[in-house]
Amino acid sequence: MRVLVTGGMGFIGSETVIALLEAGFEPVIADNLSNSKEKVLDRIETLTGKRPPFYKVDCCDEGEFRKVFEKEHIDAVIHFAGLKAVGESVVKPLEYYKNNLDSTFTLLSLMREFGVKNIIFSSSATVYGVPTHMPLVETDPTGGATNPYGMTKVMIERILTDFQKANPEFNVILLRYFNPIGAHPSGLLGEDPNGIPNNLMPYISQVSVGKLKQLKIYGDDYPTPDGTGVRDYIHVLDLAEGHVASLRKFADKPGLEIYNLGTGKGTSVLELVHAFEEANGIKIPYIIGPRRAGDVAENYANCDKAKKELGWEARFSIVDACRDSYNFQKKNPNGI
Ligand code: NAD
Ligand code: UFG
Repeated sequence: MRVLVTGGMGFIGSETVIALLEAGFEPVIADNLSNSKEKVLDRIETLTGKRPPFYKVDCCDEGEFRKVFEKEHIDAVIHFAGLKAVGESVVKPLEYYKNNLDSTFTLLSLMREFGVKNIIFSSSATVYGVPTHMPLVETDPTGGATNPYGMTKVMIERILTDFQKANPEFNVILLRYFNPIGAHPSGLLGEDPNGIPNNLMPYISQVSVGKLKQLKIYGDDYPTPDGTGVRDYIHVLDLAEGHVASLRKFADKPGLEIYNLGTGKGTSVLELVHAFEEANGIKIPYIIGPRRAGDVAENYANCDKAKKELGWEARFSIVDACRDSYNFQKKNPNGI
């Protein structure tokens, strides 16, 4: 099966390309490199011995993107391409709505034109907004995202749902990721954010190598066991395997399905810091600061549906992820 991977040079996309190659799929990458580097392709080749076709293309550019569909015989698409920084989306809402929605509209119209009927979309736990109970199940209400980035995920889920309803021969799988962390165990691929990281794990990693002085923990007065925020951290390798399992699901002609991809287990900020210290034998200096606007106290998944229907569940622990993130950070102190 030939799989177009939009955003396939990014953090999750590149790991997924590797998982696809290892599982015998034929990935084709389309990425505009707005948040990734061409070197990622060399690293994919080093790790797998294969160099998948790569198109440097903006998925919003219909003319250029059409050439990929003309050249490659695509059977399915995994749509990772998108802007993803929550804070930046508040400052640049237009750029976020334009890039994330336009790329999806363009992709869907090309898929329809070329008869490509299977799509997996990278959605997020952010679509659940401010939840009233835990763990989150796929049938819980969505739509209350608290920032423009999250709203693009809510909107694209809706667009894909309406599109599939109108075109029942299309198969759509919405994957709601929880908090991806970790890196490839080789240290060749991992998260490489521009500027000061917004997310917890890259921040801890940069503190661990002395690039940043100390971690600021956003609040210790949440109604959680130790007062710090609780999230469902999932190793990026597990997430990648979730896409392989989802692609196999297309054989059943699923119509539209939604799956949470998490571990089902909540971990607090302090627990993650301590796991990182233990896994790597180092100290992470931190201070406690005020809560960050827009954060929820806890967020973790019920992943029973993915286990039952995809035969998938997370295998790696938080400690594995801490070890792999540190290894990547040490080997790539200035990014990939
Ligand atoms: P990433 O930024 O590392 O990867 C996204 C890739 O898409 C980048 O390589 C970027 O260059 C590319 N891209 C962006 N806009 C594009 C466009 N218009 N045309 C072509 N390429 C474009 O991000 P990631 O962490 O790998 O996330 C992948 C997807 O998963 C995103 O849609 C993101 O919103 C979603 N997601 C991520 C997280 C997370 O915490 N990392 C959580 C939930 C959902
Ligand atoms: N945190 C800190 N200090 C930091 C960074 C984060 O204490 O420097 C805390 C946050 O307050 C939160 C936890 O660490 O309690 C996790 O924060 P992240 O920023 O790593 O992740 P979020 O849960 O806020 O959001 C992430 C992605 C979203 C995605 C969501 C899905 O950034 O894109 O997970 O659950 F939608």
